Amino acid sequence: MKKIILLFVPVIIVYLNTSPVHAQCAYDNYLIAEGDAPQVLNDQVYSIGNWAGEMIRVTNMKGGNTYSISTCESYFYFDSEITVYPAGGGSPVAYDDDGCGLYEGPSYVEFTPSQNGDYDILLDEYPCQSNVSGMNIYITLIEEGSVGTGAGCGIPATVASLSIPVVVHVLYKTAEQNISDDQIMSQIAVLNCDFRKVNGDFQNVVPGVFQGLGTDMGIEFCLASVDPDGDVTSGITRTQTNVSAFTANENGAKHSNLGGHDNWDPTRYLNIWVCNLGGGLLGYATFPADLQSNPDEDGVVIGFTAFGNTGSVAAPYNQGRTATHEVGHWLNLRHVWGDAACGNDFVDDTPTQEQANYSCMNFPHVTCNNGPNGDLFVNFMDYSDDACMAMFTNGQGQRANATTAGSRNGLSSSAGCGATVGIQEIDSNAGLTAYPNPNNGIFRVKSSNVSWNQPTIEVYDILGKKIMASANKISSSEIDIELNSASKGIYFISVSDQNKTWRTSILVN
Ligand code: ARG
Ligand code: ZN
Ligand code: CA
Repeated sequence: MKKIILLFVPVIIVYLNTSPVHAQCAYDNYLIAEGDAPQVLNDQVYSIGNWAGEMIRVTNMKGGNTYSISTCESYFYFDSEITVYPAGGGSPVAYDDDGCGLYEGPSYVEFTPSQNGDYDILLDEYPCQSNVSGMNIYITLIEEGSVGTGAGCGIPATVASLSIPVVVHVLYKTAEQNISDDQIMSQIAVLNCDFRKVNGDFQNVVPGVFQGLGTDMGIEFCLASVDPDGDVTSGITRTQTNVSAFTANENGAKHSNLGGHDNWDPTRYLNIWVCNLGGGLLGYATFPADLQSNPDEDGVVIGFTAFGNTGSVAAPYNQGRTATHEVGHWLNLRHVWGDAACGNDFVDDTPTQEQANYSCMNFPHVTCNNGPNGDLFVNFMDYSDDACMAMFTNGQGQRANATTAGSRNGLSSSAGCGATVGIQEIDSNAGLTAYPNPNNGIFRVKSSNVSWNQPTIEVYDILGKKIMASANKISSSEIDIELNSASKGIYFISVSDQNKTWRTSILVN
């Protein structure tokens, strides 16, 4: 095992004593060492001789990876406690007291960051005290999470202003083209990460000078739970076709009589067709300006190898960014180069740039006198590889939100994700969103515009059978739902308060 010493620390510490907090220690320790997280599986870094009351900062921990953090191996020990915070403080993200199971209680905790970032590891003596004998802290990368957009996605701190009901029309000639529910849910997750700016790659991909331009659009996406007739749906249609490859010119994907599938009411749903696209095309979209004149063709089409971030996807378009880009168009965003040499995208804060950028550009790439920072090649509306685009700008957010408030305002009153079964009232304003989705068991559901008093929470499988789940109300609009040993697949969560029921779908993977 490769070992890297962080820092040796024979330093006088300043310890700020506060009243001990149990179950985790307050963020009041002294920063004593800093170093990079292990980047290769089974690699370990360590910091020697830390005193209780000190903390170390571990940089570049990767969302989705699992790290063990321990004082078990330490020779000089006291009864330690480890508390992990995001660098600089905030809510603790991991904690352990006596996890090694040894006398005098050294600590061991496994930590899977939900986002890429730097984290502070606090060492304390039980109960959250200082102590001047030294313990070693070892940090080992014990499991690599699935890389990419989904893995590092965080949970938005605020409620979205809109949740857009999505129907995915899968068109397939071969079995491979009949993509899995997992793959579909992974795309919904990427859309939510990207449009809420909780995508885990933002920090790493976006050059520092551009980060302030990054925006949370406040827009989310839900697989439809109610179809246009008011019936329960999985939000997915599957159509076998004898069309080998669809094209944008013929637009056959959008028409049942051409081997595709007619769209659902485009004023109430975002229609996404997933199929085999000819000619190396990754995807295409309609603009809101065409909704009135050509409603039957409204929506976006994505090739099955560029949809989502798992399953049949092919690098370098395997992180779900084609749909992010195409949905950007669907919400009226233009390519950042304005489809002309130094053209106009009608957004003020995107620098004018000469042409499309491909693959992964080095910063800065100056064109059209846009120095010193140059092109915004990490923008979702450029043509960079999926791994090299990671943001919308504030100006783009304004343009997209003008669209959802304007020509696409039918979405905000759509019942597509609202509710409900039976005789209960449909509340279309109250979208329900689950994070992180998919995952393997604990989902936080949040409502927009609603606060629940004493909600009843039920979880159903795809056949409508109620399954066991435990629920924990976090706030008046947030509930954590834990599915006990649920097998892989789509489930519906329903939250009822008095006479209303809200529903959303989740995927256990
Ligand atoms: N309409 C563009 C094309 O088909 C989509 C580009 C998407 N870019 C991406 N990195 N996924 O070429
Ligand atoms: Zn485009
Ligand atoms: Ca611009």
